[in-house]
Amino acid sequence: MIVKKIPTMQSGYRVTQYQSAPGKEVSYENKNGNDREEDLSLILAELNSLVGMERIKDLVTEINAYITIQRERKRNSLASEPQVLHMIFKGNPGTGKTTVARILGRAFSKMGLLSKGHLVEVERADLVGEYIGHTAQKTRDTIKKALGGILFIDEAYSLARGGEKDFGKEAIDTLVKAMEDKKDDLILILAGYKEEMERFLRSNPGLRSRFPIHLEFPDYKIEELVEIGETMLEKREYKFTTGAKSKIREILYEQVKQGDLVMGNARFIRNLVEKAIRKQAVRLAHEKVVTRENLMTIERQDISLAFEDNGYG
Ligand SMILES: Nc1ncnc2c1ncn2[C@@H]1O[C@H](COP(=O)(O)OP(=O)(O)O)[C@@H](O)[C@H]1O
Ligand SMILES: [Mg+2]
Repeated sequence: MIVKKIPTMQSGYRVTQYQSAPGKEVSYENKNGNDREEDLSLILAELNSLVGMERIKDLVTEINAYITIQRERKRNSLASEPQVLHMIFKGNPGTGKTTVARILGRAFSKMGLLSKGHLVEVERADLVGEYIGHTAQKTRDTIKKALGGILFIDEAYSLARGGEKDFGKEAIDTLVKAMEDKKDDLILILAGYKEEMERFLRSNPGLRSRFPIHLEFPDYKIEELVEIGETMLEKREYKFTTGAKSKIREILYEQVKQGDLVMGNARFIRNLVEKAIRKQAVRLAHEKVVTRENLMTIERQDISLAFEDNGYG
């Protein structure tokens, strides 16, 4: 398990993210012990700092308002209804689906919608077993782990693979039951490629109706990817020179032209940025005098070397 410290904009506040393997729990801690409201505003700031995603930001604002008003209605002896928040996420890899799910969990816990707000990310192999009865047990165990938070199933349509006889169906049935029984303290998110997801839901109309929220994660445009790279650097207290930024643009245009599937993929940018930081370190280690400015600056050559250093083709 890799533990990453990610400083947020407010100084003194740290979010500890445990980059999880599938099926492992992701948890967070707030070292300052701020009160609820402050915590929520920090989480919302983190959501808002994500590039693009306007629809999702609006949705969270909406849900927050709705919850506040429902509470107020209750206080005024008016009927109040719980919100069903199971969701479908559609988009290519690297478009921010897991990132958003993780933030939503934390935000919903601060809003009082989930008791813990952790994210349990799983795939078919974590749910489907090898013999009759095994799958239901495995799926129930996973649900138990996710209780109080979000159960995020990546490439969910793989559960429908193999048709009627496949144990995937048993997993789906168990999930559907849990969505009903535990809906007060469990949110289920099914994620995957847009087309596959839509085909899967078309062939399971009963399932579709249980997910009131559908969100699309479009591919990032080149300028958005550059901006994502910049925010990643800022968080780490680095910055690009203008030359470095144009080099990134050139690389991205070239990749698109060649039809390499890196477009829309923020993971590509993250890898490039992290590698460039190491290239900068090597460059600076050879310098006699290194200023504060030098320590912060990623130059064009760092990007070039990072890109040439294979792994992207
Ligand atoms: N809008 C965004 N702004 C900043 N970073 C992003 C954004 N979208 C994705 N990322 C980063 O890109 C990487 C891949 O995102 P991820 O959520 O794992 O994508 P997915 O689950 O869709 O494959 C992560 O490191 C994430 O932090
Ligand atoms: Mg993901």
